[in-house]
Amino acid sequence: MTQFILNNTEIKTSLPKGLTMLDFVRYHQHLMGTKIGCREGDCGACTMLVGTLEGEVVKYHSVTSCLMPLGNAHGKHIVTIEGINLEKLNIVQQAFSDNAATQCGFCTPGFIMSLTGFCLDDKIPTNENAIDAVNGNICRCTGYKSIEKAAVSVSYQLQERAHANPIEFAVKNNIVPEYFLNIPSMLKNIQPVVYSGSEIKKVGGGTDLYVQQHDTITHEKIDFLLNQSQLKGIQQNGNICTMGGATTVSEISDSPVFNEYFKDLNKYIKLVSSTPIRNMATVAGNFTNASPIGDLTILFLALDAQLQLNDGNSTRNIPLRSFYKGYKQLNKNEKEIIEKISFELPSASDLFNFEKVCKRTHLDIASVNSALSIKMNGAVIEKAGISAGGVGPIPMYLSKSSEFLFEKTVSEKLIFELIEVVQSEISPISDARGTVKYKRLLLSQLIKAHFIQSFSHIDVNKLLKN
Ligand SMILES: Cc1cc2nc3c(=O)[nH]c(=O)nc-3n(C[C@H](O)[C@H](O)[C@H](O)COP(=O)(O)OP(=O)(O)OC[C@H]3O[C@@H](n4cnc5c(N)ncnc54)[C@H](O)[C@@H]3O)c2cc1C
Ligand code: FES
Ligand code: FES
Repeated sequence: MTQFILNNTEIKTSLPKGLTMLDFVRYHQHLMGTKIGCREGDCGACTMLVGTLEGEVVKYHSVTSCLMPLGNAHGKHIVTIEGINLEKLNIVQQAFSDNAATQCGFCTPGFIMSLTGFCLDDKIPTNENAIDAVNGNICRCTGYKSIEKAAVSVSYQLQERAHANPIEFAVKNNIVPEYFLNIPSMLKNIQPVVYSGSEIKKVGGGTDLYVQQHDTITHEKIDFLLNQSQLKGIQQNGNICTMGGATTVSEISDSPVFNEYFKDLNKYIKLVSSTPIRNMATVAGNFTNASPIGDLTILFLALDAQLQLNDGNSTRNIPLRSFYKGYKQLNKNEKEIIEKISFELPSASDLFNFEKVCKRTHLDIASVNSALSIKMNGAVIEKAGISAGGVGPIPMYLSKSSEFLFEKTVSEKLIFELIEVVQSEISPISDARGTVKYKRLLLSQLIKAHFIQSFSHIDVNKLLKN
């Protein structure tokens, strides 16, 4: 039985837990405001809000419901466009009307839900944050300028919120209906589902599985991992950071620990998918999907992350770099899940950089991506980790290249020598994302970019001459 609150209604259903929330609301609840576009998480027409009880308050996030299984709705408040209906238009709907931000209207419910999610969020309501909130929504008609103006107008109207509780403010200012105030007490009555570990199919956020297998997955027996408390949380213990396998990209992005130790975190995160996908996509899902270009995989390979695998009876620890045995072949049996991920936090003098090149800057998968982590001892490199994606059958930890840097001093000459070692370690193939020659060139440029970003004494002109 799956139990949750849909808008203002308690739901108890024994429908297959693998059904998407999109199909559940449209075909089983006859709520047709949520639209079907791509069914692949790209267009945002199906955007809903998911509210999670955290202590006494409910935190809302936007999601693409075409990739969200019913099983992940258990214990949540699910809000569709019908669930924000008031007597009059709310400030988001009014801003769309005032700015002519809707034409055919097909994308509009998705945009309204993303921006209503922004109104319920406790982030500072800047114009940039408002526009970021709709980075997972596509519109074929408007050319986006009118939508951006509407988003900015919404952020202005939130300025007077200051430090007030966002939900209380939203209710008081007719952004969402009054029933939102009762949701915390309603959610408290729902018991969490205990993880059984008995099913072979494991789903995290579903953002990979539901793109690849959305026709077949509905009736499968599934263990849902996204909301299992033992797989959540980001903790620091001394210089070691440990996080649960079901940590989402957004949880990393909001984490005080990550923000303290990775000054460019926001820049890296913006290159990974879109806001609603980041709200669902988990780290363990990224690792286990084993895409040779998984962004989080590349980032954590350079940090030499360690995995704790659990098969239900016992645990074992392995380095992430030994998790990949061949194309989509893992050092993991069917029952094992990634329970925890740990890595050493960089110290103030350590350097870390992540680079990604795609055909378009945002909401695209990498042609080639790479990360570099360096521990310095004065002017000398004490330890280095270099990873690269899109240049081999697996996400690659470049061990020869990493070792090559040991006890070296950083100079333009060293970088050129390193690039030769890097080139000897990779084996890209030509595909839709580029030719072998192009990918080799890209990785060389990304290696240079790592050093340009990390070492101010590097002469960019000297590097670019070759
Ligand atoms: C529109 C769109 C854009 C995207 N953009 C990017 C991008 O820019 N960069 C990028 O790297 N990826 C991107 N992705 C891919 C995807 O979002 C990520 O790979 C994500 O991290 C997968 O996590 P998940 O929890 O959703 O995986 P799921 O789909 O739930 O699972 C993927 C695999 O991992 C397994 N799994 C999940 N959790 C665990 C666990 N704890 N232990 C063991 N196995 C587990 C599942 O069984 C499955 O085999 C994008 C996807 C979409 C739809
Ligand atoms: S239908 Fe396009 S993102 Fe869901
Ligand atoms: S108004 Fe037509 S798709 Fe956006």
